[in-house]
Amino acid sequence: ELIIGKNICWWQNLLGEGWPGYNLELFNYPEHYHGDIENVYIPHGVIMDRIESIARDILEDLGQHTLMVLCVLKGGYKFCADLVDSIKAQSRSTNCPLTVRVEFIRLKSYLNSCFKGIYGFYNKLISLFFPHAKQNVLIVEAIVGTGKTMMSLLKHVVTFQPKTIKVAGLLVKQGPNGAAMLPDYVGFVIPNHFVVGYALDYNEYFRDLDHICVISEKGKLKYKV
Ligand code: HPA
Ligand code: MG
Repeated sequence: ELIIGKNICWWQNLLGEGWPGYNLELFNYPEHYHGDIENVYIPHGVIMDRIESIARDILEDLGQHTLMVLCVLKGGYKFCADLVDSIKAQSRSTNCPLTVRVEFIRLKSYLNSCFKGIYGFYNKLISLFFPHAKQNVLIVEAIVGTGKTMMSLLKHVVTFQPKTIKVAGLLVKQGPNGAAMLPDYVGFVIPNHFVVGYALDYNEYFRDLDHICVISEKGKLKYKV
């Protein structure tokens, strides 16, 4: 049986209760998204700082053996790239730098802002540990909503019999429909807003936005399919 999520405390809402987000006037963001977002919920620089601490925690726990990072596409690509960069940078300053390998899996479970279950499982993993079995696996996912996507993925990954499996989630959604599964490493706990940017999309738009923002009703209509 998998035991995950020991490290997170639900009261640890780093953004503060009822955080309203920053006024858009304070930020630079692409002109084509003017009117499509409500606020800047988490600025890019804050995300980068948080990733540095998550990377430090990961190194403390898993820094002894080769780390197999499994990036969940598409939303996880920025978080994964920045997290691996930070792990590498911090690991270089130790006397035993960590070997990090990276693998990708692509899932799709949202249409508009609704959870549909996994309807795109594009590439099943076949060579996760080749040529060495029994590695530590770190699943890197941008957002853990219901936890259902993550549970399906975990069932798939355990079949490879890794040494350990840990999950890093940049965002975890709170609330009655929020996460049933808690990642081991959490960036931010957020309310049940639909957020975009930093590779998170709404129907494939907004991945080209650096900050994590709350989408506006106008934005939802504009890019609805
Ligand atoms: N934004 C983008 N993708 C998502 C979200 C969200 O808030 N929740 C689950 N997938
Ligand atoms: Mg998406």
